[in-house]
Amino acid sequence: MGEWGKGKTLDDDRLKRREKLIYEMLSGSQILSYFFYPTLRLNLTIQCCKVADLDEKTLDWAFELTKKNMQLLYEQSEWGWKEREKREEMTDERAWYLIARDELAAPVAFVHFRFDVECGDEVLYCYEVQLEVRVRRKGVGKFLVQILQLMANSTQMKKVVLTVFKHNHGAYQFFRDALQFEIDETSPSISGCCSDDCTYEILSRRTKFGDTTHSHSGQCAGCCH
Ligand SMILES: CC(C)(COP(=O)(O)OP(=O)(O)OC[C@H]1O[C@@H](n2cnc3c(N)ncnc32)[C@H](O)[C@@H]1OP(=O)(O)O)[C@@H](O)C(=O)NCCC(=O)NCCS
Repeated sequence: MGEWGKGKTLDDDRLKRREKLIYEMLSGSQILSYFFYPTLRLNLTIQCCKVADLDEKTLDWAFELTKKNMQLLYEQSEWGWKEREKREEMTDERAWYLIARDELAAPVAFVHFRFDVECGDEVLYCYEVQLEVRVRRKGVGKFLVQILQLMANSTQMKKVVLTVFKHNHGAYQFFRDALQFEIDETSPSISGCCSDDCTYEILSRRTKFGDTTHSHSGQCAGCCH
């Protein structure tokens, strides 16, 4: 989930060059994967591409799924649900997507991510992980986030970062307990940059390039909005 109006910039030349390489390496690529579950076998195709290479129908599906899954949660937060901003965020030229499709090529899950600079660190920022109800609790979400972790490692990003609402209990447990994301040092509850009743946390998981001894003062621009 992205943060409204956070105004992230991709102004680091090294990062831009690296992103170009990733584009050449990954764009249009398909990772075939098979999931085995005690009672059900899911056969999903996972496509990785930049937003410019995504067809309009798939983008519309991604937006509607996000709205269905997230609107109420946003309305229960200090951000509110802002349809135009969410559409702009999802169609921003920096957006990358993983799209999972079923055997009939229908999209069932997606991840929106970007290569960003956060507080001086090059990070892979996960803006959305959204699944259709019918494919949840089968390991699909975990698998998609593991792909992000692998990409962050192979592109030498310091960490995978994301924002989660505290009242999105299922997602919170998914990231904190199952995937072992930590509360990031820039998260309001640690940095103290926002009020105590802030409804979200920033979570992160370091890659092998993340410097565990390095610590920011916590308050870098853009924590609050
Ligand atoms: C959150 C979400 C991405 C999880 O994906 P998923 O494929 O259903 O999760 P997985 O099957 O990979 O779960 C792995 C583990 O995470 C934990 N977990 C996942 N969903 C959970 C939930 N709703 N409640 C508690 N724990 C959960 C469990 O430990 C699970 O292992 P188990 O099924 O063996 O118990 C998915 O439910 C979803 O799309 N939700 C709606 C949109 C959303 O909230 N996105 C996150 C925005 S920040």
